[in-house]
Amino acid sequence: MNMNPPSSLPLPPGNLGLPLIGKNKNIFKNPQNFIEELYQKYGPVYKSRFLGKNFIYFQGYEAVKFVLTNENKYFTSPTIFKNFQRIFGKTDISKLVGQEHRDRQKLLTKALKNQVLDNYIHTIHNLSKDYFLKWMKSDFVDLYFEINNYTLELVLKLLLGIDSASGSEIDNYLKDMSSGLNTIPLAFPWTKLGRALKSRDKLFNQFEEIIVNRKKESDFGLDVLGILLTVQEQTNIELTVRETIEQMVSLLSLGRKELSSALTSFLILTSEDLDVLKSLQIEQEKLDTSEPLSLAKLKKMVYLEQVIKEVLRLAPPVSGGLREVIQDCSFQGFRIPKGWNVAYGISSVLQDPEIYKQPEIFNPERFNSTNAEDKKKPLCYIPFGGGARECIGKEFAYLVIKIFISALLDNCNWKFKENQDLTINTFPVARPAHKIEVCFTPK
Ligand code: HEM
Repeated sequence: MNMNPPSSLPLPPGNLGLPLIGKNKNIFKNPQNFIEELYQKYGPVYKSRFLGKNFIYFQGYEAVKFVLTNENKYFTSPTIFKNFQRIFGKTDISKLVGQEHRDRQKLLTKALKNQVLDNYIHTIHNLSKDYFLKWMKSDFVDLYFEINNYTLELVLKLLLGIDSASGSEIDNYLKDMSSGLNTIPLAFPWTKLGRALKSRDKLFNQFEEIIVNRKKESDFGLDVLGILLTVQEQTNIELTVRETIEQMVSLLSLGRKELSSALTSFLILTSEDLDVLKSLQIEQEKLDTSEPLSLAKLKKMVYLEQVIKEVLRLAPPVSGGLREVIQDCSFQGFRIPKGWNVAYGISSVLQDPEIYKQPEIFNPERFNSTNAEDKKKPLCYIPFGGGARECIGKEFAYLVIKIFISALLDNCNWKFKENQDLTINTFPVARPAHKIEVCFTPK
């Protein structure tokens, strides 16, 4: 252990580039390669500039574990993304810290974890089948575009009971809001931020109406909002209408793209491995068709779960997490000064050859009960992050992916158009680099 006080230690290696512009240009040209190159050059901890701010990057198992296990002691949620806060608000779980964060986590966990997931099964199953029917009527569909419509419709239905959201004005509001995130912080009607704020107001008004009406009902219902309102009545944690809106919008934006990413990557990675597809099929065929879909039945899809894990390992939807240093500390002899921003890399752990044998190879068997590579060390399997800020939508995400894929295996055959470039861009949320077309046919 290094006994020197942090202030006497050197900063991590790296190049801070020009002030304000920093190394941005390099990052935007090819973010994955840029971050990987610096990791190769400097090792697990290095500094760089990003969006005009000093960042310390943590890469590889030990460095990432240091960040994830020191939440609230050395690190907390970052405050640098001002546009983000202006558009999405300051009161959702991803921005809260300390006790407030723990209280919110407790509340949301009740609406997104095992005990209530049963409520969501049939909605997910029925909507998946509706989409397959639609896809089977076309020759080829644009895979990511269609899956992204599906996840929007699904998440809005499960969160707030909203029907047929895809292609609706909500979809457009969300697009405007995303366009305002990484843009100049000037809010005029003709700037991206101005348009984002206008759309935010319209979206918030719609959600407000839903929440206020729901609060007047005697039965709050079984979607996430309903459960959240019921739990608030049972506990002493009460959210204002504004806090509830911000929380719902945040769940929507933190969960939807990640689900789209995971489902798309699943189809891409399995399209190149027919043995895996065959084994998935065999597992489905062995299940009792007279048994209705339930959590217990989904639990029997052991191989499907292994494949999902491998997809999330090889193409993690989220490339990393951001933090702010709240107390000077040190790591491997380097000073990590208070006030700096921190980025930790998820792939650097999920593709660490010391943990995962031949990490570049798609091999779901690494997660069977004998190999159990994800159990080798604590916090070595982190597509959902880890520690105090681990994703609260993890079980919900597994549920959606499992139901979607098992229903797909039961109802459809599918074929990718030949000679397509199936590259997946992994930053900031993994998605196909190019349009990918797939043809779905009935079984
Ligand atoms: C495959 C799907 C998903 C993946 C891979 C994923 C991944 C992640 C990761 C890596 C983090 C932690 C980031 C950090 O350390 O800062 C996170 C946080 C979070 N995720 Fe997910 N997520 C997924 C789906 C969802 C869904 C469906 C929801 C909600 C319905 C959700 C809600 C959240 C929330 C609220 C947080 C913030 C937690 C906090 O700050 O305490 N996620 N997610």
